[in-house]
Amino acid sequence: MEARHSCAPGSCAAPVGAALRAIRSVIVRQRFDNPLRIALSVGAGAIRRFADFYQRVRKYVELKDGRVPSAGEPSNRNYAHVDRVEKKISGQETKVIFNDLRDFISAVGELGQLRVVEGASCDLEIGAITEVASFKKSCPAVLFDAIKGFPAGYRVLTNFVATSQRERMVFGVAPHLSDPEAVLFWKNRLKEYAPIEPVEVTAAPVKENVMVGDDVDLNRFPWPKWHQRDGGPYICATSSVTRDPDSGYINVGSYRYMLIGRNKIVAHIGSGHHGDVIRKKYWAKGKACPVAISLGQDPALLIAAGTNTSWGVSEYGFAGWMRGAPVEVTKGATTDLPIPATAEVVLEGEMLAPDAGLEIEGPFGEFSGYYGGGARPAPVTIIKSVLHRHQPIILGAPPFLGASRGILTSRGILVWNELEALGIPDIKAINYSWGMCIISLKQSYPGHAMRAAHGALGGTAGYHGRFVIVVDEDIDPYNLEQVLWAIATRCDPETSVDIARRIWSYKIDPRLPKHKKEAADYTGSVAIIDACRPYHWYDEFPATTQISEELLKETHAKWGKVLGED
Ligand SMILES: Cc1cc2nc3c(=O)[nH]c(=O)nc-3n(C[C@H](O)[C@H](O)[C@H](O)COP(=O)(O)O)c2cc1C
Repeated sequence: MEARHSCAPGSCAAPVGAALRAIRSVIVRQRFDNPLRIALSVGAGAIRRFADFYQRVRKYVELKDGRVPSAGEPSNRNYAHVDRVEKKISGQETKVIFNDLRDFISAVGELGQLRVVEGASCDLEIGAITEVASFKKSCPAVLFDAIKGFPAGYRVLTNFVATSQRERMVFGVAPHLSDPEAVLFWKNRLKEYAPIEPVEVTAAPVKENVMVGDDVDLNRFPWPKWHQRDGGPYICATSSVTRDPDSGYINVGSYRYMLIGRNKIVAHIGSGHHGDVIRKKYWAKGKACPVAISLGQDPALLIAAGTNTSWGVSEYGFAGWMRGAPVEVTKGATTDLPIPATAEVVLEGEMLAPDAGLEIEGPFGEFSGYYGGGARPAPVTIIKSVLHRHQPIILGAPPFLGASRGILTSRGILVWNELEALGIPDIKAINYSWGMCIISLKQSYPGHAMRAAHGALGGTAGYHGRFVIVVDEDIDPYNLEQVLWAIATRCDPETSVDIARRIWSYKIDPRLPKHKKEAADYTGSVAIIDACRPYHWYDEFPATTQISEELLKETHAKWGKVLGED
């Protein structure tokens, strides 16, 4: 059982506040004589001063103890959830079952990787602070509180799984594994995927506050403008739930939404994403598409929502499998979609068909490092109800150019499994970033490298990709200097580079020409670069001048001290 503080900071002041309110109401209702009113007001002032003093002392003691401020009230109070559970499954796997986002934040705090920022503004400050934090070596998670213009307690959490260590907590991968070991472990674990279906509950923290119809006002929540040229305020790390009208399949995808009115938002959902396929099915039937958008919950659901799973694989089942325990879901107020019971905020509404009118979405600073999508007319989503916990926490994961990211979410892992499923052997590692897929393999037959390249192109890597590069097993695909060396020395451009055309691209592709965007022709070209030694004269290929492992070790042992230890 996790040790919890008996009283979260701020919450001990609640009885004092209640006493003050009671005294004030007595004064107003009973219209006491002046002397009594004065006495009561002096008493109230003393209580207030004591409360302030108590808070200051408490804060001092906490800082001195090095304890972590709690993210809010204990998450399991009044609800039938378990305390955070840590189970060591094997030497490589550790399951941490977070009840909710608050549990996760406490765990990040215990690691010493949480910074609380008070007083920042939604207008670029939260975005800029997040960007600066994400480039720091420590890359802390940042919890924004007392955001300008919002009540204290309405919070935004950014940078939450931005490091390998925090990512491993959510994926359940043991901390002592090296990065390549962690990737290998997760790749193999994915093959054992067995969904743990969600369970429905009625008592749910997300129902602590419910606003319906005219009471809905999205401006009550902090919607940051993240990047300097963003077209408006955005929430960009959602888990959006829809139901396929034909099969009943529940899909959860992560999409960004721009705020355009009290109850109106516009989404960017890439064509071909399941959420897009589903909404178009409703529209084809002349209906609006019901949607429930969770703005913050246990990060496992966001990871699942952002993973390109196959059609029919419910992200709720996937998140349950990642956690090792089912996600608890409940019914909302105006849709019959299952929503995460411990979510911080859920917006329920309808994605209207394009013929109901379009509004401008974008620009938005995208993961490509550009405002590639520009500002485009997009279908509108009308929000009919909002459910939220007291003191809600909204997740933000704005993309920044070159900011550090974890490794387990890399698309390379999915490509690797796809290639193995095709029966392509001896893959050593795959790095996928910026639309470049770099495959390192030990060639074992003629055409092996090109088979891997085409397999990758036909699968996940082909989506959004621009280059597929194949290198020999002595090249570390994460070491771009080594990759460039292999291209420069083992690749003959005339015979080792192929261009594939009309490949699946996307509308926010920064290199997609204007005329193609206008014609909705979201396809592009991909270069396949074979940077392996030619297989048929592999053994005669000039040897590298690299020092052998044995000589390296010997030299270190004999001369290391003379040269210095760095
Ligand atoms: C934090 C985050 C934000 C994302 N934003 C978007 C987005 O705005 N639009 C989009 O189409 N995909 C976005 N993605 C990628 C999709 O969520 C991902 O491709 C997912 O598999 C799509 O789900 P679906 O196929 O079930 O619709 C985002 C992913 C993450 C993790």
